[in-house]
Amino acid sequence: MARKLEADRFALGVCYYPEQWDEKLWADDYRRMKEMGIDVVRVGEFAWTIFEPADGAFEFGLFDRALDLAHAHGLQVIMGTPTATPPAWLTQAHPEVLNKTQDGLAYHHGMRRHYTYNSAVYREYCARIVRRMAEHYARHPAIVGWQIDNELNCETDVFYADADHDAFRAWCREKYGTLGALNEAWGAVFWSQTYTAWEQVHLTRKTAAGSPNPHQALDEKRFISDSAISFAKLQSDILREVAPHHWVTTNGLFGNLDSHRLTEETLDFFSYDSYPLFYSIFGDAQEPEPMRDRWWSLNLSGVRDISPNFCVMEQQAGPGGWTNRIQLPSPYPGQMRLWTYQSILHGADMVLYFRWRTAKFGTEIYWHGLNDYHNGPNRRLREAAAVGEELGRIGERLVGRTYKANVALLEDYDNEWDGRLDTMHGALRGPSLSAWYKRLQYRHIPADKIKLRRDATANGLSGYRLAVYPHPTIMTERTAELLETYVRDGGILVLGARTGYKDETGRCRMMPFPGMAAALCGVHVDDFTLIAGDREPADVALADGSGRTFKAPLFNETLTVQAEGTEVVAAYASGWYAGRPALTRRKLGQGEVWYFGASFSEGAAEAILDLLDLPSPAADWGKLPREVEFGIREDAAGGQWAYLLNYADREVAFELARDCVDVLTGERLSGRAAMPAFGVRILEPSPQ
Ligand code: GAL
Repeated sequence: MARKLEADRFALGVCYYPEQWDEKLWADDYRRMKEMGIDVVRVGEFAWTIFEPADGAFEFGLFDRALDLAHAHGLQVIMGTPTATPPAWLTQAHPEVLNKTQDGLAYHHGMRRHYTYNSAVYREYCARIVRRMAEHYARHPAIVGWQIDNELNCETDVFYADADHDAFRAWCREKYGTLGALNEAWGAVFWSQTYTAWEQVHLTRKTAAGSPNPHQALDEKRFISDSAISFAKLQSDILREVAPHHWVTTNGLFGNLDSHRLTEETLDFFSYDSYPLFYSIFGDAQEPEPMRDRWWSLNLSGVRDISPNFCVMEQQAGPGGWTNRIQLPSPYPGQMRLWTYQSILHGADMVLYFRWRTAKFGTEIYWHGLNDYHNGPNRRLREAAAVGEELGRIGERLVGRTYKANVALLEDYDNEWDGRLDTMHGALRGPSLSAWYKRLQYRHIPADKIKLRRDATANGLSGYRLAVYPHPTIMTERTAELLETYVRDGGILVLGARTGYKDETGRCRMMPFPGMAAALCGVHVDDFTLIAGDREPADVALADGSGRTFKAPLFNETLTVQAEGTEVVAAYASGWYAGRPALTRRKLGQGEVWYFGASFSEGAAEAILDLLDLPSPAADWGKLPREVEFGIREDAAGGQWAYLLNYADREVAFELARDCVDVLTGERLSGRAAMPAFGVRILEPSPQ
């Protein structure tokens, strides 16, 4: 059963820090929140020194007053556990709770997230503060739920304190049983790394050239994920025991953490923090025809895979900036509203803006909230109030709906984690995913982003017409079987270069590429090259005589057909391997499997989509311009709402194929219609 947010109406909210403001401001803040349609505030997640100013001395006065007043104003409260910010008195008395760099240098007081999950002392202090807070607030009428910590694995997702090395050793003993098995899994005979006593086993440490044992590095990431989950569970167990009527969540999607398992084992539903302006740092801004803030829909699709209906605990509410880093511009007028609906389209049934007012002090004085320092009216407040008004009207009908997609972009944690060290396949992942997502977006074909889990079944994929699994280098026998079943049952599977040659330890198999997927794809790789140094990505030409070509970036494999029914769809058209097969298609059972011996360029994705002639569900609604994202959320009775999101800074027009009502405005639309810059429309078919 997917763990999802169950809401009977949409909740709009804001992150609030009563401890950072003069108490005299609170009542006015709450009054204005309510006036603009805000119903829920998140508080407390960094306030450990307020709750426990000295070791064992607990103080709830400030938050009692803040919560009572919030309740008096009709606001609901999400309480954060403050464990992301250990107090100075704690780290001074117990420096062993501090995380360390790989070189063994301790992080110190002065920022946040400077602790390690595995310190027994820290866990004790966390358990105590969480229990005391839960006991104190279990009956408070304003509280609806809890946020554990804040953004597990944000800022740093590696941990090398002494407690981590010790816990890793125990984890390895549990996993491998004997040193012989560990040596085997880690290929320790290579460079005489063989371990002869458990005391020699550590997390990766500083090495010459910064190159650790790759199998150990993969286990390290699995261990970090397990550590974060066990830390969350420590807290969720207490919250469930003491405040069983409250829900429990945590926020953020970060590296080295299996957020699916985290959610299954500790949460009621997952929450995400959505800052679409980060596209300039993490997104596709440097590429031609970039998706920019629309690229964030890919992240939100990954969140939907964890919790189909989720909460956005922090929604960007202004320009971003720490004093010394992350300089982000101001959203254009209309963009905050657009991003709120972007979150909603992808499954958010609760959205909180970050934050109510811009901090006057501290690291984040340029990370703007809805209010400026001056606290007077501004355009961000007006925009949020407009959203509040709309959601107040439609919020009951909007929630609980399911996002509809018949394309799946597949990934898995093992390959993501192995690929962080192993650039020979890791470097292919991002560009391929981005190329596929962009081409699907521009064709208005909604897609899900799915993590294939160890216990996945072909059934879970059967609803998808097309599944693209760009570069699953680590592939188990079980996964290969699952993919074959998916294809035989009618699915279309697309795989790319570097598929299938590693096992779960990250060791290579003595099999022709694409290893575990060779039999399924009906091809062998007979030669290959990394595209690096002075090598140019080859051109690939379709074999249908159309003369259509596209690029084969990053890695080029030449293929030989091994199984009957496998057709060469395209061949290399440049390089010393010109003429050799690059893209194949094999019909198998009711479905088909494609293999592309390269990383996916947009041209490759576009060509495959053309050849598949995959229809867009948008066609039933109208003819949309490329600038507009299209998606559907469906209710339990099959009633559909089509979301149209205009990411362009200008008006766009479109042609409707059916008569519709715009749910946001009540306007009846037919034929030609338009949307303003950064506009949003939610369409429902007109009653007949
Ligand atoms: C988030 C974090 C917030 C705030 C925000 C802006 O990652 O949860 O506490 O720091 O970013 O930087």
